[in-house]
Amino acid sequence: MLIKVLGAAAGGGFPQWNCNGRMSARVRKGEPGLKPRTQSSLTVSSNGRDWVLLNASPDLRQQINDTPELWPVADGPLRNSPIRAVVLTNGDVDHIIGLINLREGQPFSLYASDRVMATVNANTVFNVLNPEKVSRITLEMEQPTPLSGAGADIGLTVEAFDVPGKVALYLEDASKGQSFGTEKGDTIGLKVTDTANGKSFFYIPGCAAVDAALAERLDGADLVMFDGTLYTDDEMVVQGLMPKTGARMGHISMSGTDGSIAAFDSLDVARKIFVHINNSNPALDDNSPERKAVEEAGWEVGYDGMEVRL
Ligand code: MLT
Ligand code: MN
Repeated sequence: MLIKVLGAAAGGGFPQWNCNGRMSARVRKGEPGLKPRTQSSLTVSSNGRDWVLLNASPDLRQQINDTPELWPVADGPLRNSPIRAVVLTNGDVDHIIGLINLREGQPFSLYASDRVMATVNANTVFNVLNPEKVSRITLEMEQPTPLSGAGADIGLTVEAFDVPGKVALYLEDASKGQSFGTEKGDTIGLKVTDTANGKSFFYIPGCAAVDAALAERLDGADLVMFDGTLYTDDEMVVQGLMPKTGARMGHISMSGTDGSIAAFDSLDVARKIFVHINNSNPALDDNSPERKAVEEAGWEVGYDGMEVRL
């Protein structure tokens, strides 16, 4: 199985279009040690021929152009694409808007939880994905689902599971108190398994906490690609970017006693890679003390074009 990071940044990307904060300004200037990153998505293939997108970011057009594996096969039909399926982990803008780029009558399968599929179904703009060509398949939680695209088995299964998180920002219901109306299925993690060699990895780009159930699920994993939104919970407040903490946005931070680094410390996970990294996160700077701390704790910081073979 080959996994490629299409975009390692969180919503907004790195730099973010309207951000003149310290990190975005430095990457825009081309400072050494800072690499631009597009918004959150991976692509995976078992056979190198059929590819699955895990989330469809607003930068998908650029990501496809930067990734030859996702180009039409040169000696194939006039219209063709190796993208057979798209799996969504939540309804956030940075994970669903790229679906619009996949219009043009190309057949593929779209997988999401019942909650996220209801959001897609309720937004009629997504009907640009011709319902006769693009099948919408609701994922059963905790069930390995063989992915198919345009009718063909592509040698990968996904198992979806609920993780602590928050409903998409544009669906928040302030009348529901601290949960903002979040329900099961609003934020899921995926276990992706290659049926050819039995290898699997976990993809969890949004997660509010590593609870006991999640820790138990991840213990012993070969690879976890995990929510790296913030380094410290209040970094966006401290940098003057906006008044929200990570906790308010439904994201665990890397550092701190409640952070992901501490939570994974006692787990046996062979390879740990942060993805969905916000433009405020100092670990994006290759030369920062925060990057050093992340790497010393055995984590890698994802980047666009990063490849992992399992
Ligand atoms: C998130 O990850 O919290 C969201 O993508 C935020 C947003 O919608 O901008
Ligand atoms: Mn996001």
